[in-house]
Amino acid sequence: TLWIVVATVAAYLIGSLSFAVIISKSMGLDDPRSYGSGNPGATNVLRSGNKKAAVLTLVFDAVKGLVPVLLVQQFGAPYGLGEGTAALVGLAAFLGHLWPVFFGFVGGKGVATAAGVLLGFNVWLGLATLAVWGLVAYGSRYSSLAALVAAVAAPVIQTVVWGPSTATLAIVVMCLLLVWRHGANISKLMKGTESRIGQKAVAAP
Ligand code: G3P
Repeated sequence: TLWIVVATVAAYLIGSLSFAVIISKSMGLDDPRSYGSGNPGATNVLRSGNKKAAVLTLVFDAVKGLVPVLLVQQFGAPYGLGEGTAALVGLAAFLGHLWPVFFGFVGGKGVATAAGVLLGFNVWLGLATLAVWGLVAYGSRYSSLAALVAAVAAPVIQTVVWGPSTATLAIVVMCLLLVWRHGANISKLMKGTESRIGQKAVAAP
């Protein structure tokens, strides 16, 4: 039990590393919480016009979800950490991204981190979900719409293809929180005022 707590807290702390802010600051860019949607995520960093910063944010925010899951799967057994703990640390990293202890609990919407967590749970589920994201993003040019469709698709694909697994509850909780965090995006999509991928925006949120 102690190791489960240690692993969960460590994953939450890793998830709390808001790479949109960290990478932007280290590259001398504005804080992504100060422009565009105000969201500390790769999509909003791209609105700064700096593609490299956006790609780095996407990769690091995904890796911070993937790494805790992989570490538990690879090295957890001697400490009594199994599939249930792998699911728990994935969820903890995701929660860290949404409510980062290092950034006043003002975090992102969890898209990249959830992708990393899913890839860790089941690489094929992760890739299938990323494919859904990619298709919707390519077709619509809306990052948020792609995330919403992918978030609904992930638990459906999991259940249809593999049936319920130990990770199903974590997946469903992540997807519900992800959709909830996109409330402002949903109303903008419905009003037709959502910005497209790569569209620069400098206005305050
Ligand atoms: O990564 C979150 C994305 O789905 C929406 O981001 O900045 O357009 O609210 P944003």
